[in-house]
Amino acid sequence: MNASVAVQPPRQIGVERVERLSDADLADLAEATDAAIIEGGGFGWVEPQGRAALERHFRGVLLVPERELFVARLDGHAVGSALLVRPPRNNEAQAFAATLTHAYVAPYARGFGLARLMVTKAEERAAALGHRVINLDVRETQATAIALFQALGYQHWGTHPFYARVGGQTVAGLYYTKTLEPGRGRSTGALIDGAD
Ligand SMILES: CC(C)(COP(=O)(O)OP(=O)(O)OC[C@H]1O[C@@H](n2cnc3c(N)ncnc32)[C@H](O)[C@@H]1OP(=O)(O)O)[C@@H](O)C(=O)NCCC(=O)NCCS
Repeated sequence: MNASVAVQPPRQIGVERVERLSDADLADLAEATDAAIIEGGGFGWVEPQGRAALERHFRGVLLVPERELFVARLDGHAVGSALLVRPPRNNEAQAFAATLTHAYVAPYARGFGLARLMVTKAEERAAALGHRVINLDVRETQATAIALFQALGYQHWGTHPFYARVGGQTVAGLYYTKTLEPGRGRSTGALIDGAD
């Protein structure tokens, strides 16, 4: 007897920086975000917010000039996102640094390499914009995220003991930094060590 095995088509993964979101994208992102929140994951929200509030949130993000939104897609559907936050114009002294925040992938889309790709794309964008440093922070309970950031070369420089309150518990937060090479001008190492 011939046993036929169903061959699954390969999953399509991608990450893009977006400046606008379709209604379908907003609905997918709201679903992905609430799924990640319910699973307990990392995004600042602790309680699911519902579609209307999350769609307003993402529409608002797109309006802020210093915020760049990266969307992870699995088979074309938005399943996660991350924000690259640039310093405001009045913070000239820290203009060299950007922050990666709100990175998450819906539980049903994890393990496909989307988070790794999202962080890498955000780093490339930060470097292309001339930033030399990327900073991030994460609850100490987010083991997968911490393993990913360390694998990508982020350096743990400090721990905030009172970082977040989740489920009635105080949770510490880990602070990470990574230098970037914009590919032009002085190397970041020389710039950081230099006098100007
Ligand atoms: C952290 C998170 C974004 C990872 O998303 P993901 O798309 O599944 O991650 P990837 O598929 O890119 O995998 C990243 C790495 O984690 C590893 N990994 C994935 N799932 C894992 C698991 N359940 N346990 C251990 N390691 C795991 C992968 O092996 C991979 O390592 P590699 O690139 O060296 O092979 C996702 O788990 C998440 O959203 N968590 C909750 C939110 C959060 O913690 N955000 C970060 C702080 S803001």
